Amino acid sequence: MKFQGVKIAGTGSYVPEKVLTNEDLSEIVDTSDEWIFTRTGIKERHIAADDQFTSDLSSEAAKEALENAGIKAEDLQLIIVATLSPDKTFPNTASLVQNKIGAPNAACFSMEAGCTGFVYGLEVGAGMIASGLYKNALIIGAEKLSSVVDWTDRTTCVLFGDGAGAAILTATDVENNKYLGSDLGSNGEQHDILHIPGGGCAVPFSQEAKDQKLLTLQMNGKEVFKHAVNGMSVSAKKALDQSGLSIDEIDWVVAHQANVRIINAVGQKVGVPTEKVYINVDRFGNTSAASVPIAFNEMRQKGLLKRGQKILFVAFGGGLTWGASVVEY
Ligand code: COA
Repeated sequence: MKFQGVKIAGTGSYVPEKVLTNEDLSEIVDTSDEWIFTRTGIKERHIAADDQFTSDLSSEAAKEALENAGIKAEDLQLIIVATLSPDKTFPNTASLVQNKIGAPNAACFSMEAGCTGFVYGLEVGAGMIASGLYKNALIIGAEKLSSVVDWTDRTTCVLFGDGAGAAILTATDVENNKYLGSDLGSNGEQHDILHIPGGGCAVPFSQEAKDQKLLTLQMNGKEVFKHAVNGMSVSAKKALDQSGLSIDEIDWVVAHQANVRIINAVGQKVGVPTEKVYINVDRFGNTSAASVPIAFNEMRQKGLLKRGQKILFVAFGGGLTWGASVVEY
């Protein structure tokens, strides 16, 4: 084995066509655009069609990322899909994506680290490439959260949306490594402040579980808010330390798009000016594992990213989990 460096060679994303605005939501539950926007910064989110699944959203994002990286699906040796809303509990969604995009040479698995999934996925993919055993890896964060949200619960259903984002990681010489630092963490003691209680072996699917609303997402919003601000700011600082860079040397912060108030609070704690923090939660809501790669790809599409810039990814989610990574684009 010969250790290798890692770089992001391409990115892609996809959101379903249907847009659900705050006004639309106010016809479903007792809420208002004013309440949602002032507390979260969200105006609208995209919702997948009934026959459009996480693997479909993933595959569209993957195709764009492959094209952007200039490599063929056959050249992939690894596909990771981070998701909490897989097509099926088994088999894994990455294998379904492999089939849809035609990547027969890839090892495939899915992983679940809540909204931190993509940042965890980057770390796993980067580590596997660094081992010298893989050259091209496709890392996807994708969700059909509309399928796991309780559409009668106004405290949660207004927050989430569907979509997918992807990045191609490729091997480079060790001297040209662009994966500069990272930090991952978890606090399982708080596993039940943001979770879907049923559907696994602890509370298997049943009509009773469904009636008791155990098969949809439940959250203690206030607690999650506090943990998110703390978890993301501490993790961002640790990843920066690891990279040897100061926050002033970072060109862009791409944070998990859960809530604009959380993102701003993290920005303040980490000491980054607001113009360096990308925000698109207003148009997509919280797309969980998809939010960081959707934002990053949107920045590329808008021409905001230049090779050589230093990027700080930071995310937080159920588990609890958190993580940050510093890369040179
Ligand atoms: N529309 C209108 N009113 C709503 C509402 C909605 N969609 N959801 C809740 N309310 C009501 C509540 O019932 C409560 O009413 P009450 O005072 O009569 O009891 C009131 O608004 C305030 O609710 P509260 O929960 O205190 O609001 P909040 O200021 O804490 O904001 C969140 C709620 C969810 C926006 C906020 O806690 C949050 O963003 N948490 C983090 C969530 C998150 O990002 N999760 C994912 C992390 S990966």
